[in-house]
Amino acid sequence: MKVLDALFVKQFINLCDNGYKKGWHERNGGNLSYRIKDEEIASIKENLNEDKPWLDIGTTVPTLKNEYFLVTGSGRFMMNVKEFPESNICIIKLDETGSKFKIVWGLIEGGRPTSELPSHLMNLEVVKRRTNGEFRIVYHCHATNIIALTFVLPLEDKIFTRELWEMATECPVVFPEGVGVVPWMVPGGKDIAVATSKLMEKYNVAIWAHHGLFVTGPTFDITFGLADTVEKSAEILVKVISMNGGLKKRQTITTQNFIDLAKDFNVKLNEDALKD
Ligand code: 13P
Ligand code: ZN
Repeated sequence: MKVLDALFVKQFINLCDNGYKKGWHERNGGNLSYRIKDEEIASIKENLNEDKPWLDIGTTVPTLKNEYFLVTGSGRFMMNVKEFPESNICIIKLDETGSKFKIVWGLIEGGRPTSELPSHLMNLEVVKRRTNGEFRIVYHCHATNIIALTFVLPLEDKIFTRELWEMATECPVVFPEGVGVVPWMVPGGKDIAVATSKLMEKYNVAIWAHHGLFVTGPTFDITFGLADTVEKSAEILVKVISMNGGLKKRQTITTQNFIDLAKDFNVKLNEDALKD
């Protein structure tokens, strides 16, 4: 099969386009990665070129050794992925040690995978272990309202979790484990990858202060839906704060309301965020 005919490639491209339409990908902002299934690789194998040099990842991900990933290119614009996929995304294969990769398809005009490859792969490694292989997507976007909130809320997991949960009744059901926050760090390297992947041990959402959002999930729809839900909640909170001269709320979803919701929806909520 041609690479562009594969369903996972079409879904990957769709997510890029949907994120761009949301306004989360100015210029080259944001990136996406997908850990490809064995049967999906088998279906496109004849169109991959394995005769390529090995390059350094910048970190080591031993449990992802020899696996294939579909990723966006560094400096590429999400806006262009749908029309020119082969110039803007690529398939990489990791080596036997999980410290090197080679580009086996795509980026036909040259270039490298996203500069956030260390964060993507370290996160994918953590969630692969945590979910017994179910989660295979990591998505990074520059979601506007989440970024805005990192200038006014304390950069604490508990506070972001609670505030975001309160803004829409569905939130505690969609992300019952809450969200983690990484303080401002230089992007694109191993240090921010280590900090983010630590949060991915318990959360599916990591907020990068003054930068954006990282989310993970099992399918493209669920992963994108998670980013969409978190950002929508952030948008409501920005409006509430703006209308109300600060964080004062006249009424909100209470701790007891969350407990009742968790019981009816059969979800286990992060206990820290329930403490007043
Ligand atoms: P890349 O173009 O290298 O993917 O970087 C974009 C970005 O959002 C960095 O955090
Ligand atoms: Zn970014």
